[in-house]
Amino acid sequence: TVRDGKRVFELQARPGDSDLGHGTATRTWGYNGAYLGPTLRAARGEQVVVDVRNALPEPTTVHWHGMHLPAAVDGGPHRPIPVGGSYRAAWTVDQPAATLWYHPHPGERTETQVYRGLAGMFIVDDDEPAQRALPHDYGVDDVPVMVQDRVFDGDQLSMSDRFGSSIGVLGDELLVNGTPGPYLDVRSELVRLRLLNASTARIYNFQFADKRQFALVGTDGGLLERPYATDHIRLSVGERAEVVVSVRPGERATLRSVKSLGGDLDAKLNGGQDAFDVLQLRAAASLTPATLPGTLVATPRLDPASAAQTRSFTFQGREINGRKMDMHRNDAVVVKDTVEVWDVANGHDTPHSFHIHDVQFQVLAVDGGAPPPELGGWKDTLFMAPKQRYRIIARFADYADPDTPYMFHCHVLRHEDEGMMGQFIVV
Ligand code: C2O
Ligand code: CU
Ligand code: CU
Repeated sequence: TVRDGKRVFELQARPGDSDLGHGTATRTWGYNGAYLGPTLRAARGEQVVVDVRNALPEPTTVHWHGMHLPAAVDGGPHRPIPVGGSYRAAWTVDQPAATLWYHPHPGERTETQVYRGLAGMFIVDDDEPAQRALPHDYGVDDVPVMVQDRVFDGDQLSMSDRFGSSIGVLGDELLVNGTPGPYLDVRSELVRLRLLNASTARIYNFQFADKRQFALVGTDGGLLERPYATDHIRLSVGERAEVVVSVRPGERATLRSVKSLGGDLDAKLNGGQDAFDVLQLRAAASLTPATLPGTLVATPRLDPASAAQTRSFTFQGREINGRKMDMHRNDAVVVKDTVEVWDVANGHDTPHSFHIHDVQFQVLAVDGGAPPPELGGWKDTLFMAPKQRYRIIARFADYADPDTPYMFHCHVLRHEDEGMMGQFIVV
């Protein structure tokens, strides 16, 4: 609803009974409904107000993943919403159109709360011509695809780790937007999928069963400069990709997830079973013609020569630079409206996933070399391969608050809960 020129949303986090295809109701948590939450949507320049009520049996927060906003409404662990309590987040959307999401971020309970079903998509719009040149009819040819793996045990989602992976629970069943075995009726030649890895641990490598090419058009923080043709896209926890797929009349095309890590890591960490059907596209016998634009949005590159600071963060074990999260320690003090270069390294022989709040960054280098095309646009979450080093650049604009930190952390939610997180303030 729009009230006094503001876009107002209400979210109630609550327990519920879901039909997740197991013949019996599954006890889950959700926003407004029993599982997941509504897709929120606002345009660049709009004022957004979200009223959150906590009807869960434990404290929670709601974090706006990928959103540029003041630290006081970022929804990190410093602002818990008590049981029965409520919280209002208000800010003005000011960033390019993108596929963002929201999820809980309380101290040490993030994995559990997301696993039970608390997550939703937040789509930002803008008036770039490319947004209208791409498929943009929500739910018809522009479709959210929130991918989650789960373990079912009776009427519960089980967190018992049958694979014993160090990255957390690895489910043996897949849900898309809370639906098992999903399909999508497609009525036009092109369909845009907003892929979100909303799992707690599993890394996906999306590919069609027939290995057809599709166009990667957007990453975490917005559209690319031009579509990039590929036959797979890997997403670690929290990452998004907007892809445009072309279908032929009457065909069925199955999006799958295949081995994502290589070597023995898939068996060791991704649960052994690395191949899942994700979503079947069922094309109608006659399709509305559609064409993919050749260029999307101009993205000025941030200049490393303009950086006010260079910092290094090494992720190892469950620590960043040898330290675990401490709510009373700021790991960096950033000056508002400056650009910084961060070297983030995975010192470990298993993958991690780097995420930073408030900003979208650009990747300058991967192990000293040019980043691959899928890392050519705005990012807020980055898969960190074992023993690799990534150089990123971001501008910390607009909001200063010496009292409230933002977080950066591993987005493997168990690692985050175990303390693989740091804080920065912008002053
Ligand atoms: Cu998606 Cu700090 O989180
Ligand atoms: Cu975030
Ligand atoms: Cu990690």
